[in-house]
Amino acid sequence: MNRQFDKTMLSRRTVDEITGGRRMRRNRKADWTRRLVQENTLSVNDLIWPIFLIPGHNRREQIEAMPGVDRMTADLAVREVEKAAKLGITAIATFPNIANDMRDQTGSNILQADNLINQATRMIKAQVPEIGVITDVALDPFTSHGHDGILRDGIIVNDETVAQLAEAAVLQADAGADIIAPSDMMDGRIGAIREALDAHGHQDVGIMSYATKFASSFYGPYREAIGTQGLLKGDKRTYYIDPGNTDEAVREAALDVEEGADMLMVKPGMPYLDIIWRLKEAFGMPTFAYQVSGEYSMIKAAAQNGWIDGERAMMESLLSFKRAGCDGILTYFAPEAAQILNRS
Ligand code: PBG
Repeated sequence: MNRQFDKTMLSRRTVDEITGGRRMRRNRKADWTRRLVQENTLSVNDLIWPIFLIPGHNRREQIEAMPGVDRMTADLAVREVEKAAKLGITAIATFPNIANDMRDQTGSNILQADNLINQATRMIKAQVPEIGVITDVALDPFTSHGHDGILRDGIIVNDETVAQLAEAAVLQADAGADIIAPSDMMDGRIGAIREALDAHGHQDVGIMSYATKFASSFYGPYREAIGTQGLLKGDKRTYYIDPGNTDEAVREAALDVEEGADMLMVKPGMPYLDIIWRLKEAFGMPTFAYQVSGEYSMIKAAAQNGWIDGERAMMESLLSFKRAGCDGILTYFAPEAAQILNRS
C-alpha cells in the first residue's frame, strides 16, 4: 500500500532555518574553490613503485592477474626505472622471481651476494643513482615452500630466520640498497637488522619496517608474480597479524620503533586505513601504505569490465592514503599516477 504523504508534515522549517544559514556546498560550487579548500593532495613525491624481476636479458613476462604489470629482466628494469625517475617517482621496491630449482627449504639464495636482487640493485644504482632503491628482505621468493621464514617440522623458526635476514640485509646494503624493508614479521628482526647494518658500516641505510602486515587475501596476485602460488603450503597466520586486530598492530609498530625502524608501513592499504591513522597518531613516524597486488587488480579488473572509471578510482584510492595520514604509498600504479600528476 502506498503511504499518502501530507506534504505539510514533511518539513515545517525551511532549509535555512534547519542549517542556520550554514551551507557546506558554498565551498564546493566551482573547481577553483574546490581546489582552494582541498586538504590533502597527492604528488609524485608520494609514490614508490614496486617492480618484479626475472633472471636473464631483454625479457619481460606479463603477470596475468595484474593487468599492465610485467616481470622484467634487470636490464629492462633499469630502463623502466630511468623513466620512473624522470616522472619524479621517489623510489622503487624490488621483488625477485627466481627459478624454482634455486629455491630451497631455508631460502639460501638470499645469502648470495650476486643473486638477482643484488645484481639488479647494483645495475640500477650505477645507472639511475637519483632514485631510491628499497629491497625487501624476506625469504618467501627464495624458499621452496613460499614462507617468509625457515620451516622446520611445520614451524617457521623465528630466531634462525632473523639471523639469516640480518645477514641478507647487509648483502643488500653492500649492493647499494638505500632502504631495507623487511616484510617477514619475525620478532626482533628490526633490531637485529639495525645492529648488523651498523656493524658493517651501513649507518646510512634506513629501515622501512613492514610494521603491521596482516594475514590478508589481497596478496593473491603477488603469489603469481613471484611464482609462489603453487608452492605455498598452509598460510602465514603464525607470523602476520590477524585482520581483526588493531591494538596488536599498534604494539607491533611500537616494538619496531623502539628497535630502530626509520619508517613504518601498513600492508595491505585500503582495507587498513584505520591502522595507518592510528600509527601516525601514535608515533608521528614517516608512515607508508602498501597498496598490494589484490587492491591493484580489483581496480584494474573492474575498469576493464567498464564497471568503474579506472583512472579516477586509482587516483581516489591513492588520495585516501594521504587522508589517512600516509607520507607515501607503494603502488603498482606509480608510473600511471605520476603521468597524470605531471600533466595536471
Ligand atoms: C612477503 C610479501 C608479500 C607481499 C610482498 N612481500 C605477501 C605474501 O607473499 O604473503 C605482497 C605484495 C603484494 O601483494 O602486492 N614477504
